[in-house]
Amino acid sequence: MAESAWWQKAVVYQIYPKSFQDTTGNGMGDIQGIISRLDYIEKLGVDVIWLTPIYQSPQNDNGYDISDYYTIDPAYGTMKDFEQLLKETHTRGMKLIMDLVINHTSTSHKWFQQAKSSKENPFRDFYIWKDPVGDAKPSNWKSKFGGSAWELDENTGQYYLHLFDTSQADLNWENEEMKTKLVDMMGYWAEKGIDGFRLDVINLISKDQSFPDDDIGDGRRFYTDGPKVHKYLHEMNQRVFSKYNMLTVGEMSSTSLEECIRYTRPERQELTMTFQFHHLKVDYPGGQKWTKAPFDFLELKRILSEWQVGMHEGNGWNALFWCNHDQPRVVSRFGDDKTYWKESAKMLASTLHMMQGTPYIYQGEEIGITNPYFENIDEYRDVESLNAFQEMKEDGKSLSDIMEILQHKSRDNGRTPMQWSADKHADFTTGEPWIKPVSNYSTINVNSALKDSESIFYHYQKLIKLRKKYDIITYGDYQLLLKDHPSVFAYERKWMNEKIVVVSNFYEESVTVRLPIDEGDKVKVLISNYKDVKDSLSELHLRPYESIVYFIN
Ligand code: GLC
Repeated sequence: MAESAWWQKAVVYQIYPKSFQDTTGNGMGDIQGIISRLDYIEKLGVDVIWLTPIYQSPQNDNGYDISDYYTIDPAYGTMKDFEQLLKETHTRGMKLIMDLVINHTSTSHKWFQQAKSSKENPFRDFYIWKDPVGDAKPSNWKSKFGGSAWELDENTGQYYLHLFDTSQADLNWENEEMKTKLVDMMGYWAEKGIDGFRLDVINLISKDQSFPDDDIGDGRRFYTDGPKVHKYLHEMNQRVFSKYNMLTVGEMSSTSLEECIRYTRPERQELTMTFQFHHLKVDYPGGQKWTKAPFDFLELKRILSEWQVGMHEGNGWNALFWCNHDQPRVVSRFGDDKTYWKESAKMLASTLHMMQGTPYIYQGEEIGITNPYFENIDEYRDVESLNAFQEMKEDGKSLSDIMEILQHKSRDNGRTPMQWSADKHADFTTGEPWIKPVSNYSTINVNSALKDSESIFYHYQKLIKLRKKYDIITYGDYQLLLKDHPSVFAYERKWMNEKIVVVSNFYEESVTVRLPIDEGDKVKVLISNYKDVKDSLSELHLRPYESIVYFIN
């Protein structure tokens, strides 16, 4: 067995700085706040911290609209604060990766300001401009945040492309000078000593240059995993990533298994791993996000298993995750955030963390933070949710239906402040928080989690330790068991003479299952979410949301 790459054995903790810890009282988290909580993160046992964007930004999309790649947004602190954070992270033996948003910049970026000043400006070609077609837009492509993907610039009479908000203009990757500037910028951060990048919607950077109308969809098939994306990633790898032995995780929108194998096979020298989202669309009936529907459990098993087997066989590498700043909280989504809150949060953690790949824990997931169930539209902040609210209203949906959909689907579900204690505003800020914390923070918070030896926090801590101790979790292959079982997710990992069997009841009803395992095997329980678990695998009686991980050799 070849030595593993450092990031294969790592566990990553994602921080959404705006909602993590405020130290100035302005209601928004900051870098000093992160520094003040590093001991807590270290205690969890993770190896890497990923920071969502902290660069200068008008914050229309919470920092994914960058106006200067070289400056820290003053709301978060200064470059000196950042350097201190990097140093203190390293002192604790952890690594730090930054978010790289290079599909688009903010329209406040000086490049765009120059570009829009005239058609002849040297920066014009850094972005994607098209003439109207008659009176119509250049194509029928849709923005992922609603409406057209083309916005008219009155001054020059041309449209620019924005796959996201109108204030996020797509960069033109066909322009060599623009590319060089971005690569130089990556080198700047690499030289500062950061350990990798999370690459925002990176599989959208190469567009079909004819920008055709899409008569069967919203245009995505003309820019998703586009014509030159592998070439561009290979160039970035050669010019920056590989020189610094970086962890590089690409966020892949609507991608395929075949493409992700290409992105991550080591010999292709592109990225080290990818996020894919198919398993988080199992509650989008007919592909529609803004709906309310129970999740399709068999699909969830099928998709995760397909990626486990496919990436293993293709020699690719998965990033494993349930949550991030764009997703609802997993315990509210696939678990039970009331009666079986603790059991189901632990069950979901075990089910994911025993898979092959690099696990990502999103701030607050490790203490079981739930969706906030906001009841008023004024409590929402997210541009995508606010646009969806308008669109659903225009479509004639009732206010109560819209609010219920947002309660389950809004990105703000994952953006509420970190719950540190039962004190005012969960100890996130002494001022007015930019978004309200979940009202249950007096019981669900870090303080109480640390005091309870049976807490979700310690379950995550244990999962991280197991990953370090058992190589089979990193290297083993994967096979789904009980494929068509309607409530149990069971799988087996195999490596050398060892086996791990994971069996999780995803529902409240108890259930009895038989696993195809030899009675004669030597079996021990590695982790579970109930006390008094039996070592016998032949007939398993699973209680509500019960999950057990067995090691067999
Ligand atoms: C990614 C980010 C999301 C952002 C979008 C546009 O999906 O995770 O928060 O809105 O890209 O940059």
